[in-house]
Amino acid sequence: MLHNPKLDKPATKWWHAATGYQIYPRSFCDSNGDGVGDIPGIISKLDHLKDLGIGFIWLSPVYASPMADNGYDISDYRAIAPEFGTLDDFDRLVAEAKARGIGIVMDLVVNHSSSAHAWFQAARASREVAEHDYYVWRDPARDGGPPSDLKACFGGSAWTFVPEVGQYYLGYFSPEQPDLNWRNPALRREIYNMMNWWFDRGIAGFRMDVISLIGKDVDAGVFEEGPYLHEYLQEMHRETLAGRDIVTVGESWSVSRDTALLFCGRDRAELDMVFQFNHIVEGWDPLHGKWKPKPFDLVRFKRVLDAWQATLADDGWNSLFLSNHDLPRQVSKYADDGTYRVQSAKMLATVVHLMKGTPFIYQGEEIGMTNAAFTRIDQFRDVETLGNYADAIAQGITPDEFIAGANANGRDNARTPMQWSGGGQAGFTDGTPWIEVNPNHSEINVKADRADPDGVFAHYRRLVELRREHPVIVHGRYVPFAEDDPAVFAYAREMDGTKLAVIANFTGAEVEFEVPEAQSGRGTCLLANYAARDSLDGTLSLAPYEAVAVLMAGS
Ligand code: GLC
Ligand code: CA
Repeated sequence: MLHNPKLDKPATKWWHAATGYQIYPRSFCDSNGDGVGDIPGIISKLDHLKDLGIGFIWLSPVYASPMADNGYDISDYRAIAPEFGTLDDFDRLVAEAKARGIGIVMDLVVNHSSSAHAWFQAARASREVAEHDYYVWRDPARDGGPPSDLKACFGGSAWTFVPEVGQYYLGYFSPEQPDLNWRNPALRREIYNMMNWWFDRGIAGFRMDVISLIGKDVDAGVFEEGPYLHEYLQEMHRETLAGRDIVTVGESWSVSRDTALLFCGRDRAELDMVFQFNHIVEGWDPLHGKWKPKPFDLVRFKRVLDAWQATLADDGWNSLFLSNHDLPRQVSKYADDGTYRVQSAKMLATVVHLMKGTPFIYQGEEIGMTNAAFTRIDQFRDVETLGNYADAIAQGITPDEFIAGANANGRDNARTPMQWSGGGQAGFTDGTPWIEVNPNHSEINVKADRADPDGVFAHYRRLVELRREHPVIVHGRYVPFAEDDPAVFAYAREMDGTKLAVIANFTGAEVEFEVPEAQSGRGTCLLANYAARDSLDGTLSLAPYEAVAVLMAGS
């Protein structure tokens, strides 16, 4: 390998030591009683986030949208959805957040637009207008049917016929989300102009929705990480990102350790980080995917996360997360949302936040919110769940079986309203929420958790603070140990003679853990979810979901 002097010293950026917080605006806080969260609601809760200590908010889409996919279907990239507020509200959010040291990272959804976007309305009316080529059209097959049997992610065919133009368009996710044709340079120009327009309003970056799809070669059937992807990301960087002190995170369901550095290698001039899902998909059935989860296997889970730490050890940067608006609540999925909810929520946070990378907290995670459980299909709202329900029933799956799968791995169960208090509708709204509030808000809510010095919030706040205080957490080398232990997640972080050891029991049973010779020693306990430990030596008897982080002495 050629020596690259740029990689010798890690350039420190503000987001290396910062923690991100994802807001799903529909479910965060409703200021006007219409049952839908909104931007004034977010502004009213900024002090909660300031207390948590986060550096930036990843705001899921707030743009104008028919909300077929809750905003991941944008009809006007330069307007705010009326139910979320106005551009003035947005500008106020940026200013109020900035006054609290918090940046606003917007969601950039440009693999597709909404079918209600003016571009698509023009495109579907005539082949002669410039906008027609902003989308992906193909002639019907010989029998008049769709050009291929490609299925849409949210159910049904990925192709929809438009009689006015006699062609099918591609909707990789759903017919309401027609794919934009990135092969068209004028379309790319429109997108870069729009990105710069938001940067000029003072945003701190973009989270880029399914960005690995934009370089697709439709005719070759290559969608993920297609042949044009990196050319476009480099062009985007030149035209919009270069020279700005912002952060970018690209979402990719396909990115692997082999391709990660193509996105976020420091000399690539593309993105700062990727949201990769290898550790998530590890828990799914290879054939039936997320609707059929496999039993959790800690050794395999560790192997994936350890390997990503190794891949991005010296170049690129990891994003750290277990939950988001597309995934189950982490305490329900990976730990115990019953007896040991508080301890196990803290344990998961400890393991994730002390790795190398930028951690992301999904709203409500900081108080240990759990997955909602629904019993009837009419309680679900998500286009993915409802679309797949129709397909599943047609294939002979019973409604009860489907609902069990949806409760475990569907997206709605983590999208129920933020639980601010034990009162009516959890303090989220004065009206009727767009999706039911989890009944456990009487017990699990911000007010109660924050009043408890041993609450989940206090633990998260400490983790966020530790990252800002200890360079070893930001830049230290990640060294896993006890990799084959089926119950314990353990690693050290090392830098300039400083060492931080993290040991966590991933089970609800007490376990005996033999500290390896090389990791033994005494130090200062930075964080624990049971009694503090300052000695890591010999055999430790770890309580259920116990997690401890010790800064080793003499190091
Ligand atoms: C991303 C979003 C998800 C959305 C999909 C299509 O995966 O996170 O919520 O449905 O892209 O935009
Ligand atoms: Ca509202």
